[in-house]
Amino acid sequence: MRWIRRLLVGVVLLALGVAALAAGACRFVLPERFAINAPMAHQMFGLGGVDASDDLLGQQIELAEGFGIGLFAEGLRIPRFLRFTSEGDLLVTTTRSGRVVLLFRDADGDGRSDGRRTLLEGLDRPQGMDFLDGFLYVAESGAVGRVRFDPVARTTLGDYERIVEDIPAGGNHYTRTLRFGPDGWMYVSIGSSCNVCEQDDPRRAAIVRYRPDGSGEEIFATGLRNSVGFDWRPGTGELYATDNGRDLLGNDFPPCELNLVVQGGFYGWPYANGDRELDPDLGAGHEEEVRASLPPAHPFRAHNAPLGITFLRGDGVPAAYRGAALVALHGSWNRTKKDGYSVVSLHWRGDEIEERAFATGFERDGDVIGRPVDVAEGPDGAIYVSDDYAGAIYRIAHGEASRSAPASAKTRRREHPLGAIPPAERLAAAKRGRFLYTEHDCASCHDAGRAAPGVLPVPLSDLSARYDVGELASFLAAPTPPMPAFPLSEQERRDLAVDLLERHP
Ligand code: HEC
Repeated sequence: MRWIRRLLVGVVLLALGVAALAAGACRFVLPERFAINAPMAHQMFGLGGVDASDDLLGQQIELAEGFGIGLFAEGLRIPRFLRFTSEGDLLVTTTRSGRVVLLFRDADGDGRSDGRRTLLEGLDRPQGMDFLDGFLYVAESGAVGRVRFDPVARTTLGDYERIVEDIPAGGNHYTRTLRFGPDGWMYVSIGSSCNVCEQDDPRRAAIVRYRPDGSGEEIFATGLRNSVGFDWRPGTGELYATDNGRDLLGNDFPPCELNLVVQGGFYGWPYANGDRELDPDLGAGHEEEVRASLPPAHPFRAHNAPLGITFLRGDGVPAAYRGAALVALHGSWNRTKKDGYSVVSLHWRGDEIEERAFATGFERDGDVIGRPVDVAEGPDGAIYVSDDYAGAIYRIAHGEASRSAPASAKTRRREHPLGAIPPAERLAAAKRGRFLYTEHDCASCHDAGRAAPGVLPVPLSDLSARYDVGELASFLAAPTPPMPAFPLSEQERRDLAVDLLERHP
C-alpha cells in the first residue's frame, strides 16, 4: 500500500506546484517558498462565541490612536462580507453555510447587535452583496441573484431570482464580490481558478460588469488574480481593488496589490508579479504584455492577503481618516513567519499612498485569534470588521473606550452538531469517513508525526464550533487553498465530516 500513499502525497504536492517532489525522497526539506504556516484551530480562543470576550479583545487588539473596540456580534459561522441596510442593520454573508444573515442594529446603545435573522439560505457560497432600487443583490460562486428587500420590515419580498447564471465557478478563489458603481453598472470580481495558470475563460482573474438586470456582460479589467475587495474613491470616483499575489515564490515575494482599476486595464497576472516583474513560471515569451501591464498603485507585503476595502465617507472618524481607505488583511499561509492579520488604513498623499496600522494583534508570535475579512462604515460613524476565524463582527469607534462584555455573551455554547444523528448511523458514517481519511492520506498534512516531509502539519481541532456536518462537507467540496480538493461524492464528504466532528469536536 506504500506506493498508494506515495502517489497520493505526490498528487497533493503536485497540487502545490511541486511536481519534482513526487518521487517522495525521504528526509527532504521543502524550500522556504513551499512553507505552509496556516492558522490552526487549537490556537484560537475567540472561537465562535465560546469565549470571545471584549475584555480580551481590548487587551489583544491594538488600535490607532483614539479608537476603541467591542464585539458587535459573535457566534457566526465564518462571516465574510458586510453591507449596511438603509435602516442601519448589518447584513453579513456566512459563505460556507450559504446564508445571508441580518444583524439588528444596536438600538439599546450597548454596542452590540440586538438580534439576528437569516434572510436567505441555501445559496452557493454567497459573498458580495449590494442594494439597488429596492433589490438586494448577492454574488454566489457561479451566479448573481437578487430579491426584493424591505429594510423596515427586515424581510425579503417574493422569490430570490438568479439574474446571471453562468459565472465561471470551481477551482480556487470561488468567492465573488459584487458592488454597484457610481455609473450604475454592477461590478463582479471573479478570481482565478488557480495559483498561476493560463485561464480558458477570459472572465476569470478579471472584474466583469453587468447592467442591473444581469444583461450586457462586459469584461472591465483583466490580469487580476483575485481582487476580493473593491471600492470607489470619494471625490475622484476612481475604482480601487485589492489583489492577492501568487503563492510559492518565497516569504517576501510577490507583493499583494492595491490597483487603480481602469476600463480595459491589464494588471499582469499570470505573466507578471508586483511592478511588472516577469513571472518565473509563465512570464517567458510574454515580455510585451508585461511591459504594457499596469503596476500596482500600492504594494502590500507578500502573502498579507488584502480582502475587503472601504473608503471612509462619514464624519465619525477624525479628519485624518476621512477619505482614507481601510483594508482587511486576512493573513498569510505561505510564509514561514505569519504576517497580515490586521486592518490597515491607506492615506493618499498626492501620488503616494501611505499604509498605516489601524487594528493589529489578531496574530501574536504565531498565535492567531482572528482573521479580518471585510470592513464597513456604519451609519453611527463606527467601523465594523468581520472575522471569519473567530466568527465575530467587531465594532471600532473613535472616542469610545474598548468595551466590556456582559457575562451572558461569554457563556453561550452550541449544541454538538452530531447530536441529532441516530447513534448507529453516526457510527457507520464515522467508520466510512475514517477509511476515507486514511485512503486520501489527509494525515500527510494534518497529523503531527504523519506529515509529509517539510510540511508543517495543520492540526484539526474545535471543528464543531465553526462547522456542522453540512458546512464541513461544503468545506471539503471547495477547501481553502493550499488544501487541495479531493474527488469525493456528496455522501463521502458527509461521512468524512462526521468522522472529523467525532474526533475533533
Ligand atoms: C496538502 C496538504 C493538505 C491535505 C493533503 C489535506 N489538507 Fe486539509 N487543510 C490543509 C491546510 C493548509 C488547511 C488550512 C487552510 C486555511 O488556511 O484555512 C486545511 C484545512 C482543513 C480543514 C479546516 C480546518 C479548520 O480548522 O477550519 C479541514 C476540516 C480539513 N483540512 C480536512 C482535510 C481532510 C478530510 C483531508 C483529506 C481528505 C485533508 N484535509 C487533506 C492542508 C491539507
